Amino acid sequence: MEIKVAKSAGFCWGVKRAVNMAVEALEKDGRAYCLGELIHNRREIERLRKLGMDFIEDMDAVKKGDTVVIRSHGVAPSVIEFLKGRGARVVDATCPFVKDVHEKAMKLEREGYPVLILGNPKHPEVIGIAGHLKEPIIASTVEEVEALPKMPRLGVVCQTTLNLNFFKEAISLLALKVKELKVYNTICSATSIRQRETRKLAGQVDVMLIIGGKNSSNTTKLYQISKSVNPRSYHVESKDEIDPAWFEGAKSVGITAGASTPAWVIDEVVQFVKDLGKGGVLSGRGVCQTAG
Ligand code: F3S
Repeated sequence: MEIKVAKSAGFCWGVKRAVNMAVEALEKDGRAYCLGELIHNRREIERLRKLGMDFIEDMDAVKKGDTVVIRSHGVAPSVIEFLKGRGARVVDATCPFVKDVHEKAMKLEREGYPVLILGNPKHPEVIGIAGHLKEPIIASTVEEVEALPKMPRLGVVCQTTLNLNFFKEAISLLALKVKELKVYNTICSATSIRQRETRKLAGQVDVMLIIGGKNSSNTTKLYQISKSVNPRSYHVESKDEIDPAWFEGAKSVGITAGASTPAWVIDEVVQFVKDLGKGGVLSGRGVCQTAG
């Protein structure tokens, strides 16, 4: 059985940076808080917990002298102010690309545009972007974009992990109802490269495995893209969820992973599939990597 692992599978640059910053903070201070889960990957969270990281939802737990890590999704400025006001040491691991979305959204507002954020209103990144604005408008579906009224001016930014097809559709709809439309495509290239590569790989193999947290929006999007091209696509968090029956008659397997999936989880899955399909066409780390 041939195994092809997507080149872009796994941690993106921003997540890698955030995890490194968190581990450095733990090495320096012995323990640290993180507001929410640092990344959407249960097993990596367990590893960080063992190193001394405490994941909290309620900022009231934070006391003077505590270290608090801000995850790559970013937060509203009021959160940082609150933590600093408590006397905490803030380690801001917000991805610089997300910071760039904050800057662009605020610039649009300063220029007098009402600002629309295309993204999931419940996602921490979108909550963080909205927290930088006075009156954010948020739309996460085509229906919501259609329901927006006609406007003389509108500025648009989007969640860095937004689906490119939704972005295209939303912008074409807005172009018909807004006289002056200023759009920043803030989809992170790490996301679009991963999505493009997944679509291509899904079309080349018999079975696709998409590895990542079930609560990870970027992994779920990869799964949806893959499934639309290849019905034999499966979203798993680890090798333990793989059913050998999925590979019946399959000659090739494609593997990709969301931006918050650590390399060691991917390696476990690759090894598992390799063991299932002994004697296949293997190269590199025991697998073929796609050209991307
Ligand atoms: Fe940053 Fe892009 Fe990753 S925005 S956190 S590098 S998906």
